[in-house]
Amino acid sequence: MKRPLIVGNWKMHKTIREATTLVNIIKAGVHKMTDCDVVVCPPFTALAAVAMLLEGSKIELGAQDMYSEPEGAFTGEISPLMLKDVSCRYVILGHSERRQTFGETNERIHTKVAAALKYNLLPILCVGETLQEREARKAFEVVKEQFDHCLGNLIAQEMERVVLAYEPVWAIGTGRTATPDQAEQMHSYLRRLLNEKYSSTIAERVKILYGGSVKPDNMAQLMAKPNVEGALVGGASIKAESFIQIVAHARTTNMPTAFKR
Ligand code: 13P
Repeated sequence: MKRPLIVGNWKMHKTIREATTLVNIIKAGVHKMTDCDVVVCPPFTALAAVAMLLEGSKIELGAQDMYSEPEGAFTGEISPLMLKDVSCRYVILGHSERRQTFGETNERIHTKVAAALKYNLLPILCVGETLQEREARKAFEVVKEQFDHCLGNLIAQEMERVVLAYEPVWAIGTGRTATPDQAEQMHSYLRRLLNEKYSSTIAERVKILYGGSVKPDNMAQLMAKPNVEGALVGGASIKAESFIQIVAHARTTNMPTAFKR
């Protein structure tokens, strides 16, 4: 059975006080759901406060981005060591909002993925096409290019610590989710790419999450697909009740991963 992984990307939401309230409710709500991994990614300013509240709980902490250097004259940036210092285990990298609004390239993202691994953080690498690219039938080509360049020359032992997230840009914050079939198609394609670049073992081990307008009422159908192993949730992760319900739905529909050599 695949073990679901549900990650909440809080984006640029929540003050420390609001984050504290949110995480306390989520903590209580998912407490008994031991057959699912749960990660929350608050904004940088709330990481330390949330980390303290998560001590001893099953929920893990992630950041939404980082720079690739351990320290130095990089005004405004946060380093992998700083994330480790506040007990982060995961870091989201290559989110489409970073790519689109802040001009991050695949090459820059690769440097960050490599740095995260070097400092023992687990990268959640986001890939996904825009609506224009999908309509031009370039979705697979674009995702392959992101996959190839963002992973670069990572070796197998590094790759098995990476989580992939397929986030079609047209589904993010739009209320327009990819259909379970569309998600499954891209997820199984990513698994094929993993098999070609690495091995069937790596293809089986790497978790592939879906992200883009995930809500309590579409989680179960998405999770019912054999290659969808969890979700990267934006808007619905900053409302405690909906996030807890998403976790609950992810657990009840998990099934074996369908990768065949
Ligand atoms: P929404 O769930 O708000 O569509 O955001 C998805 C996302 O970008 C998660 O990283």
